[in-house]
Amino acid sequence: MSPPAETDLPLLTLSGVDHAYLGRTVLSGIGLSVLRHEVVALVGPSGCGKSTLAHIAAGVVDPLRGRVERRYTRHGMVFQEPRLLPWATARDNIAYPLRHRGIGRAERLERVRAAAERAALDPLDLDKYPVEMSGGMRQRTAIARALAVQPDMIYFDEPFTALDVALKRRMQDLVIAAGRDASFSALFITHDLMEAARIAHRVAVMDDHGRGISGERVIPGHPGERTDAELFELVSRFVTQDPLFRHIHDIDERRIS
Ligand SMILES: Nc1ncnc2c1ncn2[C@@H]1O[C@H](COP(=O)(O)OP(=O)(O)OP(=O)(O)O)[C@@H](O)[C@H]1O
Ligand SMILES: [Mg+2]
Repeated sequence: MSPPAETDLPLLTLSGVDHAYLGRTVLSGIGLSVLRHEVVALVGPSGCGKSTLAHIAAGVVDPLRGRVERRYTRHGMVFQEPRLLPWATARDNIAYPLRHRGIGRAERLERVRAAAERAALDPLDLDKYPVEMSGGMRQRTAIARALAVQPDMIYFDEPFTALDVALKRRMQDLVIAAGRDASFSALFITHDLMEAARIAHRVAVMDDHGRGISGERVIPGHPGERTDAELFELVSRFVTQDPLFRHIHDIDERRIS
């Protein structure tokens, strides 16, 4: 049998990844891959090591042990908090990583325009400073900033947890549409199984103490094409019948406290 072509190999592969902070193990034996054009949702209870895993995958943190293979060209990151520069307008925030990469002014402006459009940011809002923006606008700006680098991989770390239900849904739709048009792959961390089911092709469930990935489920159909009834039925089945999801709660305890 001939070896798989380079384009068939996953864009991201983690194998046997372990990590510890100050001697305390937070991840052990993590194996996970993301294929080209695939969105993988990663779910698991608070504190199980999801953000640590994303940081290791993106190369921000070195794992204690294990291998990370990255076959993508560029990645973007979107976090729970938008992490915008407070002294810069939305336009300058989106352009910041481009400036960093030495991209010229004309191309920067064009990329900001295109990314802002994908993130459904009104051109008039591009002159606003973070303090003048709504929570949704800030998160759109953060998404546009990630899109502007034209990534083939995006790490989303619970980007919509702090948003209300209606806005969350709009933002999910936006990511689904952007993923389809710009065709990036993504690792999308979330607490919310409904969000995972809407946005992803596959969902990976982390063990509650970071002891690896407990299992994975392919989500039937394609993101953006599943009806609410199908999603509701699927998520109900996951939580009531599938032991893989027994420790996942659809409720984010941090929003209640
Ligand atoms: N820089 C750090 N130094 C020491 N311990 C850390 C550090 N970052 C995370 N931890 C610990 O590692 C564990 C995993 O943290 P991590 O942030 O990866 O979890 P998480 O699954 O993303 O949680 P959440 O869902 O609440 O965001 C936690 O017990 C946390 O306290
Ligand atoms: Mg986290």
